[in-house]
Amino acid sequence: MSNLNGKATAVAHSNIALVKYWGKRNEALILPWQSSLSVTLAPLEVKTTVAFGAPEDSVQLNGKEAQGSERLRVLALVDELRRGKSALGCVRVHSEGNFPVSAGLASSAAAFAALALALRSAAGLPRDVEATSLLARLGSGSACRSVQGGVCVWCRGKRKDGADSFARQHFSPQHWPTLRMVAVVLSREEKAVKSRDGMRSAVKTSPYYPAWIKSAEEDIQPALKAIAARDLERLGTLAECNAWRMHATSFAAEPPLSYMKPSTLALLLALEEERQRGTPVWFTLDAGPNPVLLTEEAHVPKVLAFAQSFSPLETVVCHPGGDARLEEAHLF
Ligand code: PMV
Repeated sequence: MSNLNGKATAVAHSNIALVKYWGKRNEALILPWQSSLSVTLAPLEVKTTVAFGAPEDSVQLNGKEAQGSERLRVLALVDELRRGKSALGCVRVHSEGNFPVSAGLASSAAAFAALALALRSAAGLPRDVEATSLLARLGSGSACRSVQGGVCVWCRGKRKDGADSFARQHFSPQHWPTLRMVAVVLSREEKAVKSRDGMRSAVKTSPYYPAWIKSAEEDIQPALKAIAARDLERLGTLAECNAWRMHATSFAAEPPLSYMKPSTLALLLALEEERQRGTPVWFTLDAGPNPVLLTEEAHVPKVLAFAQSFSPLETVVCHPGGDARLEEAHLF
């Protein structure tokens, strides 16, 4: 490996959106129609090592050589850097997550945030959270919100070239250290319709889509206020409503699309009763069947007991995580 001129390793956390990103106004640049807001999820993380000066481009994800569109998405970020610095040459990329990829825990957000940070460092570029977020966005939209920790907002931006469409931190993880996000893995089946296809269909065919853009954009400020006040009830109520509305765009698409399984809906409907029993717990749901439950640290045992009654394959208790970071220990 002595011919490798620039090598770096980065680690980034996954994130969960409380105001979802759902739909692109520009597919190639991954520009959203509306802004979104998320909390970074520790301890879920992906570690990525990159090295320029390799004999050929090679991409290994969780021990397997990446193929097809997976490989192209990784190389899209590399090509973006090579456009400015052609002398960088070929790249070797290894990436490993500490959590299951198909559990709906946004492994791609963590992976592309780590990749963007490692690539910029290996290319000798200075630390710059905005530029890293812009680069991460080219792999997967939600990844731009995993460059910084705590609560981040991805501002949709207005420019055609996407230069103003990146995420920035609004609250550090220390602002609300007792906030808990409990991922309830009800199914590990690969989803039939990937997020990018589901959102494309909603944008093109759902009569509810224009209403979604407006209401999601209007959710950002109240969500920030609820987080500023550490008001779980206000934040949870808003997050649930936002998730229902995101899913409603897809229920109303042609053909109609549901990411929920019967067990998902059973759990979501039972939450109201659980709240009436005194447990402060609310849900959010990405484009998959596995809900993430929002609560406070003190109530995690009750929330886990509630989740157990739906026989999950796994539950993962997460807390607000920190920034993506560089590490000395490389994967190769
Ligand atoms: O970034 P993508 O292409 O994986 O899309 C993410 C979409 C949602 O997870 C459903 C919502 C979000 O904002 O993370």
